[in-house]
Amino acid sequence: MRGANRKGEVTIVAMKIALGADHAGFELKDKIKQHLSEQGIEVQDEGTNTADSVDYPDFARKVAETVADQRATLGVLVCGTGIGMAISANKVPGIRAANCDTVFEAQMSREHNDANVLALGARILKPEAAMEIVDSWIKTNFAGGRHQRRVEKIHEIEEQEVKRLS
Ligand code: RB5
Repeated sequence: MRGANRKGEVTIVAMKIALGADHAGFELKDKIKQHLSEQGIEVQDEGTNTADSVDYPDFARKVAETVADQRATLGVLVCGTGIGMAISANKVPGIRAANCDTVFEAQMSREHNDANVLALGARILKPEAAMEIVDSWIKTNFAGGRHQRRVEKIHEIEEQEVKRLS
């Protein structure tokens, strides 16, 4: 499938999904891991793997950096709501993380926004719904065209803010 580096340049890569979760999301993350593995999709599990309380930004960062550095094609993060994971992952340059509760949002986040990280809420979604969202998200390609210009503008904000603050 197509990937993109931190500059937004398109690359062709074998699909590999980086997974991360906090204590609220690790059970759903493990179910997603099994679900993807059963489909022959390579996964990289960045933890957490127990119910011990942890801080979601630590795991969001790991997965976001893995995706931004192209050590994985896409990332999936799970916390209680998906909100903290999305906010954290979006701080890493090159990441467009989308918190999705529906298949429609998941599809649009790929087709229009070229989202490279999906954030899910384990306290919101039933496992079956989460699997449908993950499957549709992975299968949907970025549409390009007018959306390419808009995604480039997101990248410009990031570049200019990094410069402004340095
Ligand atoms: C942990 O209790 C919870 O705050 C976290 O999983 C997540 O929902 C944050 O956005």
